[in-house]
Amino acid sequence: MLAKNDVLVSQAKALIDNENNQVANLSNLSALIMMHFEQLNWAGFYLVDAPESLVLGPFQGLPACIRIPFSKGVCGKAARWQQVQRVADVHAVADHIACDANSNSELVAPVVVAGKTVAVIDLDSPKTDRFSEQDADELQALADWIAEQWPKWTG
Ligand code: SME
Repeated sequence: MLAKNDVLVSQAKALIDNENNQVANLSNLSALIMMHFEQLNWAGFYLVDAPESLVLGPFQGLPACIRIPFSKGVCGKAARWQQVQRVADVHAVADHIACDANSNSELVAPVVVAGKTVAVIDLDSPKTDRFSEQDADELQALADWIAEQWPKWTG
């Protein structure tokens, strides 16, 4: 039997197949993430497009902040520290950047290639304390798989 972490990665592999277009793949992956985790109001990618700077990538949900420096927000922290960030109550985090007033908890996993953050995956939920440690492990496993594919995904 597949471990739970492997289910999301297996679904991602099946969905992507041999496609190497970055926009297409990240778009479908954001839709997959939205279906896979319940009770989300936003799921998507921020991409590093300049030193220490994230720009909005493919996502599902309401329009969101376009640019986030590594020095700001939960996404910036995940990018800077290269560690998954699991926030039970975003209102308790002074640095949190509110894009959708309905968001109450957040999970962000970094995509790290050759020691450098190239993207983060950001999930928001209207439910306080929505994300478990298992969810964090599962999202990081997907982020690690994306990191392995990244050099092929030319965009
Ligand atoms: N809340 C994030 C910003 C991105 S939106 O949630 C889509 C943060 O604090 O970095």
